[in-house]
Amino acid sequence: MPMNALQARTAPLYERVRHVIPPIEWPSFAEEIDAILELKRQRRAVILAHNYQTPEIFHCVADIVGDSLALAREAMSVEADVILLAGVHFMAETAKLLNPSKTVLIPDTEAGCSLAESITPADIRGLRAAHPGVPVVTYVNTSAAVKAESDICCTSGNVRKIVEGLGVPRVILLPDEYLAQNVARETGVEVITWNGHCEVHERFTPADIRQLREGHPGVIVLAHPECPPDVVAEADFAGSTAMMNDFVAQKRPASVALITECSMSDNLAAQYPEVGFVRPCNLCPHMKRITLPGIRAALQEMRHEVTIAPEIADRARRAVERMLAI
Ligand code: 13P
Ligand code: SF4
Repeated sequence: MPMNALQARTAPLYERVRHVIPPIEWPSFAEEIDAILELKRQRRAVILAHNYQTPEIFHCVADIVGDSLALAREAMSVEADVILLAGVHFMAETAKLLNPSKTVLIPDTEAGCSLAESITPADIRGLRAAHPGVPVVTYVNTSAAVKAESDICCTSGNVRKIVEGLGVPRVILLPDEYLAQNVARETGVEVITWNGHCEVHERFTPADIRQLREGHPGVIVLAHPECPPDVVAEADFAGSTAMMNDFVAQKRPASVALITECSMSDNLAAQYPEVGFVRPCNLCPHMKRITLPGIRAALQEMRHEVTIAPEIADRARRAVERMLAI
């Protein structure tokens, strides 16, 4: 049967995901993708997508993909009128901080983050009062209002560099308790932290990793540093989602397990079919709120614009820009 116009337009995109999306599922994705690509042209929009977005978003409609650090960096050089953030709310806020004159959209305003929800600006002020003179390093997985109370931000991709770069024996690093403990162990810097956790990574246990190694001899285990320290200790390597991506791209292991969100393995499996992915993954319910129909509706209706009050934005931007300068 000859291809219709839509099938012909989207066929090269299917090539990118054919190892992870069965042919029977493609037609419904293709229709949405085709409409989104047209809307992007009409709106002069770019789509920034986090590594945890599903393959049909990550490989087929995104212009820029990466970890939180890459998305923040790339957001600064975007030439478009509209930025649509396929990720969670704090990522969209960061993009807005760095692009105050652009329209930033998020397809679902409920796409939050358990870390961002764990801490308030008043909590930071309390910690400062309890530890005068100790610098406050805030993980980007926080609201703009929390960033505004901070000296500098960090991501899992640069936290070590930021903490060591401060050149002090003690830092307040929040809100992720496990990330802070992992960094304290790596750097020897004393870290005062908070009891925030990522609801995806806190669920992994050392027993999961041991079981995995028994069932898959020779498997290489990569863990995100939001995992508890006893889980990271069982892994072969710990790093941000971009660092995991680079590890797989460079080493092409025969068998690898990514101790993180599920779409990470799907996106890499689409690119590296020769790599065997063992999948003890957890889904992030917030990341999964972003869908092709949601992206299409957001661009169609220009809906869910992200705004930040100017008195917060200026101070929060300073903390993010200090991070990006390092
Ligand atoms: P990365 O910065 O490593 O992409 O992590 C973001 C995140 O939300 C991890 O759970
Ligand atoms: Fe937040 Fe964890 Fe989801 Fe990342 S994976 S957005 S840290 S809840």
